[in-house]
Parts: sequence; C-alpha cells; structure tokens
Amino acid sequence: MKDSDFSVVEAAQYLLARTSYRPSLALVLGSGLSEVGQAFDGQEFSYSEIPGMPRSTVAGHRGLLKIGPKTLVFQGRFHHYEGYSFHTAAFPAFLAHRLGVSTILLTNAAGGIHTSYHPGDLVLIRDHINLMGGNPMLGPHDPSFGPRFFDMTEAYSASLRTQLQNLASMLWGQRLAEGVYAGLSGPNYETPAEIRFLKTIGADLVGMSTVPEALAARSCGLTLAGLSVVTNLAAGLSAKPLNHTEVEQAGKDAQVALAQLLTAWAATPA
Ligand code: HPA
Repeated sequence: MKDSDFSVVEAAQYLLARTSYRPSLALVLGSGLSEVGQAFDGQEFSYSEIPGMPRSTVAGHRGLLKIGPKTLVFQGRFHHYEGYSFHTAAFPAFLAHRLGVSTILLTNAAGGIHTSYHPGDLVLIRDHINLMGGNPMLGPHDPSFGPRFFDMTEAYSASLRTQLQNLASMLWGQRLAEGVYAGLSGPNYETPAEIRFLKTIGADLVGMSTVPEALAARSCGLTLAGLSVVTNLAAGLSAKPLNHTEVEQAGKDAQVALAQLLTAWAATPA
C-alpha cells in the first residue's frame, strides 16, 4: 500500500458508522507497549479492516484500534522508517481529531540520554526537537487540519503534565522526570557521537516516533501530552550494543506501571 491509499476521512466515516462511542481522549501506544491497551474497554477494530488506514509493520506494534466511551486507543503506530510519509506517520493524530477527540497522549520507547535516567523509567515529555528531516504538515494547506503556521511554544501541555505528575505522586509517592525528546528518522540506533551532539543541544531522550503525531496534533488544536519509557541507555552511554528485542522487552516490563498511570489518567474528570 502507498501513502496515497490512506484516507483519514474514509477511516473516520467507517468508524463513526460502527460505534456510538465518541471518546474525548486518545492514546497512542509505542513499541512494546501495545498490551497497555488491554486495560481499556471498548470496541476493537483491526487496522487491516479499516478502509484508508495504514498497517503496522514493526514487531511490538499490534495494529488494533480500541474505541471506548472515553478513550480511543491506538495499539500500534506508523513510522517514517517503515517507508511511510511523515503525513502517514501522523495518521493517528489526524484520525483522533476527525473522530472528535480533544486530548491526545503519545507514548514511546526511547533511549535515555540524561544521566539520571535508568531503563524502565517513565519520563514525561516537556518539549521536543524535530531532527526527523520532515514534517506532516508540509504540502498544500487544508484548513480543516489547522492554520498554515502553528505555534509550538507549549506544545506539550503544562496542565496535563501537572495532572500526570499528581497521579504519579499518588500512585508511587514520587514525581516523574521530565525531559526533551529528540526525534530522528532511524532505523539505526544512533552513534555515540550523535548522542553527544544530542546531549549538547538539550535532548534528554531519543527516539524514532512521536514528533510527526505531535506536530499534527498541535496543528489540529489537540491538547497534547507525551510519555517515554526509557528502554535503554542511549548509544555509547553503556558498554552494551543496542537491539530491538531488548528495547521491546524493556517496554513490556514497563507496561504495568504505564497501564496504572494511563487508566488513572483516563478516569480523571476533564
Ligand atoms: N534510540 C532511538 N530510538 C530508540 C532508542 C534509542 O536508543 N531506544 C528506543 N527507541
């Protein structure tokens, strides 16, 4: 399938005709984090049955959409490194907007650059640096997805961060770390020299996703939060080489904590 086969309008029409739920929150679950979706109730749709919807091709991404009364859960996302355009990589954010969602929380597996991070930590994204080499909003302007030029000053909502910090304190008696996420295209993990560069420019986390959806979400006026699971120390910060199996496993190990936080958050009155 190619990018021109994908259509947010078609996917939204299909879903709106098949469910009476109109959720206000969307969650996008990253690598190895799909099982968190099981903590949420709702009608299930396989990505492959939804007309106009791209497919997940990466191990650890299930390709399942769950629509519940309050929450829309994407179990699996689309990456530029799979050959998708940045526009397609942002599909979950565009679709959430089209389905009437007002708040989106993006999760991902990330390498930890900040020296205080350990594998397994949940880190709230405070801001991002787009080093992916593209942007989902490039191209002819469609006003139904927001203004031509849009602000990114407080892209990751401070009030959502406060809400999530309060929940973390209640659940575990401590606040989460907050950091800046650098998005690169991948699919390689970084070189140690690249990690030193990223640290110098102010990045605390590194990954290959999230930025396209975050840009689309903000363009569409969605309130945005981001949460990284630190699955490994970034390249050169430990003696070990990196591999996807370990990243996926570390993501899986963090799923119980992530599900606790996200179900508590989804149950919080808006
Ligand atoms: N680099 C890039 N993406 C990642 C990493 C990393 O170290 N870990 C998980 N996703």
